[in-house]
Amino acid sequence: MHDFSYVGKNFYCENVNLREIAQKFGTPTYVYSYKTLTDHYLKLDRAFDYITHIICYSIKANSNIAICKLLADQGCGADVVSGGELYRAVKAGVKSDKIVYAGVGKTDDEIKFALLSNILLFNSESQAELELINKIAGELKKRPKIGLRINPDVDAKTHAYITTGKKENKFGISLNEAFKIYKTANRYRNLQFRGIHIHIGSQITSVQPYVEAVKKAVDFMNKLKCEGIKIDYFNIGGGLGIIYDKESPAKASEFAASLKPLLKEIDCSLILEPGRFITGNAGVLLTKVLFIKKAVNKKFVIVDAAMNDLVRPSLYNAYHNILPLQKSDEQKSSEIVDIVGPVCESGDFFAKDRRLPFVKSNDVLAILSAGAYGFSMSSNYNSRPRAAEVLVKDGQCYLIRKRETYQDLIRNEKISAILAKSGQENEKK
Ligand code: LLP
Repeated sequence: MHDFSYVGKNFYCENVNLREIAQKFGTPTYVYSYKTLTDHYLKLDRAFDYITHIICYSIKANSNIAICKLLADQGCGADVVSGGELYRAVKAGVKSDKIVYAGVGKTDDEIKFALLSNILLFNSESQAELELINKIAGELKKRPKIGLRINPDVDAKTHAYITTGKKENKFGISLNEAFKIYKTANRYRNLQFRGIHIHIGSQITSVQPYVEAVKKAVDFMNKLKCEGIKIDYFNIGGGLGIIYDKESPAKASEFAASLKPLLKEIDCSLILEPGRFITGNAGVLLTKVLFIKKAVNKKFVIVDAAMNDLVRPSLYNAYHNILPLQKSDEQKSSEIVDIVGPVCESGDFFAKDRRLPFVKSNDVLAILSAGAYGFSMSSNYNSRPRAAEVLVKDGQCYLIRKRETYQDLIRNEKISAILAKSGQENEKK
């Protein structure tokens, strides 16, 4: 399932001892396995062999340009949600006819950039946005393809923050409204309505909500067909869950098999937008133990990574398995601890009341399943330089993002002339 495991007493990524990476690049550092990344992509790709399809990797999960490039080299496309992600996709060499652009709030500049990049599809979610794309496309003499994102009103049974396909969520257009838009599509002279898009949420472990949503979308497409409206692309979004703890998510093959009877009914290309499925278990975050602190009825393991590096536990109360890089004999025994970072917030934790083998200062821990929504959601909070990122491939490790420096933190900031002057004046007083 992934390429991180103990070999004897040491924790490895593929055939590289992670301790060597921690020594060479310092901590906190994200480490990714090339093999896991490509395996996950290929697994999904092969599972959908039975239908013409494009896998558009959801760049938000892990947007490092090296990761985008290695997936593009396998033939993978990209799902982007901002001009910045589109820029990364283009720079990474993702083919423009494999790029789809989602999101409820695209700006004029972003739309222009996407039009000039000749992307495959705009996944659009409101009439106001359709009007804007239509207007800008006219000015640029373009005729982009549109995939309307419909809201199938299906409960994905995942964390409330990452449920997106219920009618009370901000995403998508109701089936009734979408039907009206398709019926009056020639109002938008510069748009080609060619696709239907759904994305019901993230970290979905059962196929049942997908089946429900895909069924609604297929019925909708059949209704359009009766009106003589032909759909060429059916985008079923991302959201496939992974194992963080004790989940048992559907395998790619099971997922593909469960949709096969429904997809047989339609005559169009399928698009998938997986993010976490590809990168989630392909990355770990290495962090060093700084101190052990005993409080009245708790023991804290204070590490050098923090919520600014990996916010998922703080934000979603998400579980990440945490393992020491080196097993010692003492580790036959364990204790219950909180694993926390140095940021000044009580919400800065990676695990609470977790059983962990005895660890001491300078030991390095691996926070598992950190390849998706890890670095990409990191920040400089508390003025902490962001972590380094390393890729392991064929027994070698490659730095794919340098650790930030203090200079990086203030690079774009400016002490304006007026403040410099007032400082001098105060000194004179
Ligand atoms: N397509 C669309 C339109 C999306 O909004 C998303 C994710 C994806 C595809 C990819 O979903 P995935 O396959 O990775 O589940 N930060 C949260 C996850 C937010 C997901 C947002 N949208 C987390 O750390 O769990």
